[in-house]
Formats: sequence, C-alpha cells, structure tokens
Amino acid sequence: MTSTSFTVTPWEVKGEIDYEKIIKEFGVKRIDEPLMHRLSKLAPLHLFLRRKLFFAHRDLDVVLDEHEKGRKVVLYTGRGPSGHTHLGHLVPWIFTRWLQKAFKAKLYFQMTDDEKFLVKDLSLEQTTNYAKENALDLIALGFEPHDTKIIYDTEHIRELYPFALKIAKRTTFSTAKAVFGFDNSTNIGLSFFPALQAAVAFYAQQQVGMAGGEKAADAGKNVQCLIPCAIDQDPYWRIARDAAPYLGYQKPATILSKFLPGLSGPAGKMSASDAANAIYTTDKPEDARKKVMRAFTGGQPTIDEQRKKGGNPDICTVCQWLNLLFEEDDDVMQQRLKDYRAGKILDGENKKYLADKVVAFLEEHQRKREKARDVIEKYSLTA
Ligand code: TYM
Repeated sequence: MTSTSFTVTPWEVKGEIDYEKIIKEFGVKRIDEPLMHRLSKLAPLHLFLRRKLFFAHRDLDVVLDEHEKGRKVVLYTGRGPSGHTHLGHLVPWIFTRWLQKAFKAKLYFQMTDDEKFLVKDLSLEQTTNYAKENALDLIALGFEPHDTKIIYDTEHIRELYPFALKIAKRTTFSTAKAVFGFDNSTNIGLSFFPALQAAVAFYAQQQVGMAGGEKAADAGKNVQCLIPCAIDQDPYWRIARDAAPYLGYQKPATILSKFLPGLSGPAGKMSASDAANAIYTTDKPEDARKKVMRAFTGGQPTIDEQRKKGGNPDICTVCQWLNLLFEEDDDVMQQRLKDYRAGKILDGENKKYLADKVVAFLEEHQRKREKARDVIEKYSLTA
C-alpha cells in the first residue's frame, strides 16, 4: 500500500505509518477487547498484546473457535535472510513462542533464501548462508526441535512445489500486480515467489493432519493455520486466502504487528539496510550501547528546558523501545512515561536505562545463539 505519506509493502516500509488507514485499506480487523479477553484465557497476555504492538488480525476469532472445539492449530512464520537479524525481526518470533505454548502448536518457519536472492543484490550463496545465521536467532529464543521445523526454500523446494503450483495456477498476474505492485521490470522469479510463501500455510496444515494419522491426499483440511508477522507481509496472505478454497484447506489466519521503529526516528521501521538505525543480534553489546546513546528522543534542546517543559514520549524512540520491548512491568512503564512527560526523567538517563537492558539482552541472546550452532541441524525440515 502506498499512500501520500507512507509506503507498506513486503519489500519497502517508509514514512509516517497510519495504522488506522492500514486497517481499513488492507481489510484486516483490530484486535479488540473481547478477543484480548479470549486470548487471556489461554495464557497471561504477552507484553506485545498488552502494549498493542500486535494490533490486527484476520480470522483470529475463527482460530480461537476451532481451538475451543479441540481442533488442531499450526503456526507459520518466517524470515527473508538478507542479512543478520535485527531486533525488529525478533518481534514476531518472540510472540510466536508465546503462541506456541498457548496453543500447544507446531511451528513451521520458512527461510526465503530464494526471495532475497531475487529482490536484493545478493548471491544465492549469501542468502543461504544468512538463512543458517538467522536460524540461530530463532533457536536462541527457546524453540525446541520436536515442534519447530525450519524450511530452507532452496533446500526443501520439493515439499513446497506441489502446493505452490496449485496456488500459482489460481493467481493471475493481474492480481499479483495489484497486490504486490509488480510491473514489466519485475523479474519472473519474483512474480512466482508469492505462491511459495503462501504454500507453507497449506503444507503446514497437511503435515499436522498427517501427523494425526490422516492420509496425505486430504490431510489437514480441518487444521487451522495461524501466521504471526508484521503487517508488511499481509499481501501474501491475501493470495493464500484466495487460493484456500481451491486447494480445499481452511483459509490461513493472521495476527499482525506494527513495526518496531528504528533508533533514528519514529517514522518507518527498523530496517536491515540502515545499520545505525537498527540493533542486530550480532552487534557487540558495547556498540549497541553506543547506538542507543545516539538515539532520537522526544527531549528538548537543553536540560533546563526539558526539566521545565518535559519530553514527548510519543516521538521518542527510547520511550517506544522501552514500552514495546524492554520494560515488562506495566506500572513501572506508566510511571516512567509520566515522569518523562513531566521532565523528571531526562534523555541521558532514559537512554542509559534502555541501553543497560539492551546490553543484558544481547549478552544472554548471544550466549544462546552460539550454543544453537550445535543443534541447528535438528530443526531442519528433513532432519
Ligand atoms: P523479513 O525477513 O522481512 O522479516 C521477518 C519478520 O519480521 C517482521 N518485521 C518486523 N516486525 C516488527 N518490527 C520491524 N521493524 C520489523 N521488520 C520486519 C516481518 O513482518 C516478518 O514477519 N518474506 C518474509 C519471510 C517469510 C515470512 C513468512 C514472514 C516467509 N514466510 C511467514 C512472516 C510469515 C520476509 O522477507 O520477512
């Protein structure tokens, strides 16, 4: 979707994003209080729900209905390995782990090394290598091999291809142009790719059905797929949902997040192509600290002014990072926002508070990430 002031597509996110407008134009629904209440019966609500980072969905109510009837739910998410993982990418994965426990569901995770080869100026060798590096970050978040399967597209294409073909046959180029903005300069690899990203939803349903003893031909028709991701991936799910009736599967449902902003300002998202704006899981903790200390804030030009007039947390990336990701305690967060507005918390102190949390997170994550090298093969689809 491209509006006058912002753009949100799977390959580009920029500008001041108006999430209200997105809800209307994408035709997704807001996660409202009744839905939050239903989710809270599964497990204490995750921080990302409480702080409304996950804000929209398609058919989440259907997933909850099916789950309540005792039907199986399967989770599906992924990564386009174009570089190292940054903290924004971790948002849907951390949340997926919560969903996995809440629904006791299996996760299929797609690494689209093919997609990133097609859209970026990267070799296939680079994207396949990044796929393995990014997988370490997923594993470090606590996923376990018995219910987490990673699909590397270029390696596991055989499994996906029959599903992708069926979706591709049902998707016209004119639909793909309208949904993804393809034009005559788009390479033909990319014009087929959406079928592959959509394919995993049905593959996952089939696999869970088969694991439950159903025969391959019609396995998984009653399994419900739920896809946690940021809103930029929504175009793929339109293709998948349109194709679902032809393949005989339930339409995949989604739970969608806003973007964690980058450190240089609230517009757009944290993007892998802007290193100072993003914190990578592979950054040295002390380099990450320096990035936080240079972050864009909602403060005033001088300390005196900030004490008098207070800061504006709505445009402050430091406040937002604390609120969305790093300050778990709701009461502490509310108090800090109040104090920031009142000029009682100054930027230097606020940045240090966040930087300490970021450093602690990275040190622990990096320890787990290194350990993941020993077990990464166990997570592969064909392990
Ligand atoms: P990719 O690699 O661009 O992004 C990986 C996941 O991270 C989300 N994301 C963010 N979330 C919050 N804040 C941010 N700043 C931010 N930046 C990115 C993305 O929405 C995505 O969920 N084509 C996909 C790979 C893929 C996939 C999937 C993603 C394949 N199958 C199924 C989600 C679900 C891609 O390039 O994602």
